[in-house]
Amino acid sequence: MPCTVVVGAQWGDEGKGKIVDALSAAADVVARYQGGPNAGHSVIREGRTIVLHLVPSGVMHEGRRCLIGNGVVVDLQRLREEVEALEALGLDVRPRLGVSAAAHLILPQHRAVEAFAEAGPGAIGTTGRGIGFAYRDKAARTGLRVGDLFEPGRFAAVVDRNLERLRREFPAVPSLAAMSGAALLAEWRELVAWLEFLVCDVSLELHAALHAGRRVLLEGAQGTLLDLDHGTYPYVTSSAASAAGAPLGVGLGPRAVDRVIGVTKSYATRVGLGPFPSEMPEEEAARLREAGEEYGATTGRPRRCGWLDLPALRYAARVNGLDELVVTKLDVLDGFDEVRVVVGYELDGRPVEGFPAAAGALERCEPVWRAFPGWRAPTTGARRWSELPANARAYLEWVERECGVPITSVSVGPERDAEVQRAR
Ligand code: IMP
Repeated sequence: MPCTVVVGAQWGDEGKGKIVDALSAAADVVARYQGGPNAGHSVIREGRTIVLHLVPSGVMHEGRRCLIGNGVVVDLQRLREEVEALEALGLDVRPRLGVSAAAHLILPQHRAVEAFAEAGPGAIGTTGRGIGFAYRDKAARTGLRVGDLFEPGRFAAVVDRNLERLRREFPAVPSLAAMSGAALLAEWRELVAWLEFLVCDVSLELHAALHAGRRVLLEGAQGTLLDLDHGTYPYVTSSAASAAGAPLGVGLGPRAVDRVIGVTKSYATRVGLGPFPSEMPEEEAARLREAGEEYGATTGRPRRCGWLDLPALRYAARVNGLDELVVTKLDVLDGFDEVRVVVGYELDGRPVEGFPAAAGALERCEPVWRAFPGWRAPTTGARRWSELPANARAYLEWVERECGVPITSVSVGPERDAEVQRAR
């Protein structure tokens, strides 16, 4: 495993935190490649749930170098709070953490205008963390990066220029009036001093690590169907969440990656607005939501719930070039009499090939269903494939056959050891 990518194969919340935590045992360096504090990666340790928003999930393993790549957008205040909370648990974080000088910053004005935009007609149900507007500045070449904090004169001038533009664009956002580059720098003085020690060249470090034969894990946030290019646009996040974003977001070439692991739940969830062909009626969703504790790790919002969507999973396998599939939360389906799957879509009475690019078309698709008999038996204690109930195995074997990607591991509970490793 010189360089492995872990990517969400659905709409995020697939349980990547647990998988990255487990894989980190065999890694030397773990790097986040995109997204920001919109992510919420839950790791359970000694019965306690720790939710990581910016720090890579590999941090739970002592000695692992943890990097935040150029593709991530950083909210400094949240980063510091998270690091301090982890340190309060007894983990040494700062000496192991590096933040790319090229990572863009989320500024207070990004959050302010997002709150306004999300209260209007174009809302997509964001996490409210200023993600989209920080990436908008990045793409417009008006963004500010971690490294810019150390050139205060230029930093303040760019912030002021951006604020002027935003005040014209969003005259109804009153909080913009009091903001300024100088005020922000004054407010952040201590924070910037705290950060300085962490700033590094992530690309250079990863190249050196790979050259020295060290093992690198690239951790994705959100999921393929929230990817800016390949997701259900415009109901997506603003970064390259799919596997191709991994080398881009840390400064490696595509050939550095030699293994891509996709993570999918045994069913599906989605937070925020947008098409969701396999969504369940609310009555059924409520049952799954309770069984799977499907509430947003970042916002606490109840997640929309549905069954596994095979066309979407096949699409994720293709777009990411998946080598392996990890299925999480199998145990959540233990009590269901029947497990349903969307096996295809029909649009205007005709079968759809692939996965529609337009959200409107996807919304109009009629799902074609298949039902599998449930297993009605606890799976949490299983540690080998043969210990899974026969109906659960049949379901999983059908999924991997249909996707053309081998399932190498199945998570059967939140605890670290609740996992069935499949011998290959
Ligand atoms: P943003 O990333 O906050 O701009 O939100 C854009 C869309 O992505 C919204 O539908 C969010 O609910 C969704 N989203 C962002 N981050 C996550 C995540 O970590 N898990 C699930 N959905 C997410």
